[in-house]
Amino acid sequence: MHITLITGSHRPTGNSGRIGRFIEQQIQADGHTTNLIDLATTDLPFWDEGMWGADGLKDKWAEVWQPHAEVLQKSDGVVVVCPEYAGMASSKLKNVLLLCSAQELGHKAGFLVTVSSGVGGAYPVAELKAHAVKNNKLVWTPEHLIVRSADHMFTDNPPAEHAKSDAYLRSRLTFALGVFYQYAEALTAMRAKDGKLHDDAFPFGM
Ligand SMILES: Cc1cc2nc3c(=O)[nH]c(=O)nc-3n(C[C@H](O)[C@H](O)[C@H](O)COP(=O)(O)O)c2cc1C
Repeated sequence: MHITLITGSHRPTGNSGRIGRFIEQQIQADGHTTNLIDLATTDLPFWDEGMWGADGLKDKWAEVWQPHAEVLQKSDGVVVVCPEYAGMASSKLKNVLLLCSAQELGHKAGFLVTVSSGVGGAYPVAELKAHAVKNNKLVWTPEHLIVRSADHMFTDNPPAEHAKSDAYLRSRLTFALGVFYQYAEALTAMRAKDGKLHDDAFPFGM
């Protein structure tokens, strides 16, 4: 399968990008091809009416969005790695989920990973699972991963007091990815065979 990862940190040195790259390596080791869109280093403007064709605003979108849209369209599933900022999903990540339509994400499996340097991480799960997929129609898998104490997780030598949590998260990641692959495969088969997933009368979720 082809899997795209989107990492939502605003910081090029953020943990979300680092953990996203760790997960990407694991996905490749599992035999899949990948793309990674790191929003900290990707020049992607915030949504404006040019996305819907407004004159004077639309021209830039073909250049800045189309390459990412094409990558997402050919993907069988997506992994979203989202930092917790003040109890919220990051603005850049919400922006990309707003830019994505069902053409990019519709009826595809999405594995959500949230990242907190403290003991947070649950708020962005609640936010994104409840409020971010109405129109793009991404299907979150039931298994998400919350990475707390992120500075010390998925590192080469976690300090002794974090070693147990790090080992737990590594093993839980392997399990959650296995679940994600099964959903991605099943939904890819479903998209291929069923012409009833789209109706021009109801392009957006209710
Ligand atoms: C603007 C901002 C707000 C943050 N707010 C929270 C927070 O509310 N709760 C929390 O656990 N961590 C918070 N953090 C720490 C991040 O969770 C931490 O940096 C983590 O590594 C994920 O972000 P990163 O990918 O940018 O590194 C915040 C970080 C930033 C930059």
